[in-house]
Amino acid sequence: MYKIAVLPGDGIGPEVMKQAIKVLDKISQKHNISLQYEFSDVGGIAIDKYDTPLPEHTLKICENSDAILFGSVGGPKWENLPPDKQPERGALLPLRKHFNLFANIRPVKVFKPLKDSCSLKDNLIEDGIDIVIFRELTSGIYFGQPKYISKDKTYAIDTMKYSVSEIERIARLAFEAARIRNNRVTSVDKANVLMSSILWRETVTKLHEAEYSDVELNHMYVDNAAMQLVRNPNQFDVILTGNMFGDILSDEAAMLSGSLGMLASASINESGFGLYEPIGGTAPDIAGQNIANPIAQILSAAYMLRYSLKHDVAATEIEKAIEEVLNKGYRTRDIYTGKEGEVLVNTDEMGDLIVENL
Ligand code: NAD
Ligand code: IPM
Ligand code: MN
Repeated sequence: MYKIAVLPGDGIGPEVMKQAIKVLDKISQKHNISLQYEFSDVGGIAIDKYDTPLPEHTLKICENSDAILFGSVGGPKWENLPPDKQPERGALLPLRKHFNLFANIRPVKVFKPLKDSCSLKDNLIEDGIDIVIFRELTSGIYFGQPKYISKDKTYAIDTMKYSVSEIERIARLAFEAARIRNNRVTSVDKANVLMSSILWRETVTKLHEAEYSDVELNHMYVDNAAMQLVRNPNQFDVILTGNMFGDILSDEAAMLSGSLGMLASASINESGFGLYEPIGGTAPDIAGQNIANPIAQILSAAYMLRYSLKHDVAATEIEKAIEEVLNKGYRTRDIYTGKEGEVLVNTDEMGDLIVENL
């Protein structure tokens, strides 16, 4: 029996999480996987109820679980609180740090039926797109010290710091992934300006020479990488990068797949424990309307089955069911283009359709 900590969070979080649970119910029944869900509050809703974004009991539930399925946190209601009380800084970042979830894996797959939702020309994505971003998640400018706004509010400091061991452990996973994919790693940095990037590049190069010389490696500055992603996305196989660059490039890459509502991620630590979440946020502009795309949350559940629970077949079946539903023309509003054969559906209906196709 697996214990799953389910933290829906704010905004569209609860709406899309409901769909992911429906899918998990169906797939676990089919494969005889016993799942026990432990729902708990995190983020803004926890601030409203308990005056803290990450209550002690929520953390306990996570600690006693085999994996964490996370929605999204934050929104306009809480963005003027003191920084450490806010949902993102007070709950999501501490959770990542607490469980040492240093490896954030963000697969960018374009489902072929969604070619028309992609903002690039058809001929650029003719054969689909299959990239995976390995983003370092527990260090870099997000966590480096010192970090503060001066008392008189005339200046502020963030520190971008990386140690060799932090770079090596994420690079290792990227090289290993490349070996079972198309054998190419692009390491993205800003080594023409930043000291931490000079060390990043040197460390990745040394590790490559010592242990992974069979993998093709190239280095790219982050500004160029942002451009290359839309110029010719298929030049990339595995992208290896730091915390902030990975954050930005993955939102950009989401548009290759048609919508931010399509991409999910796995954040894992050295022992394989993981937190699974969509790469997008709480989408306050569409929350509460039953129109959000639940696919990113459903894919998060699939990645949980794959990476933490080692049920790869079940995970693949979920991905296939999603593709099947898209093939049949069903679209939530974010990926709907109005083309003949498309059927506009809401969040609940998309969840039901995916369940029916399992
Ligand atoms: P966002 O990702 O919430 O939304 C950006 C745009 O993408 C919006 O137009 C939204 O409607 C759309 N979008 C996102 N997910 C969608 C989905 N599933 N279906 C359809 N459309 C979708 O980013 P934002 O507006 O910059 O941030 C809103 C809040 O979410 C902020 O408080 C932010 O800090 C938080 N956030 C949380 C997480 C997280 O918890 N992991 C991630 C990113 C942002
Ligand atoms: C993400 C989000 C988070 C990040 C925020 C909400 C802290 O944007 O998971 O991509 O920047 O890591
Ligand atoms: Mn982000």
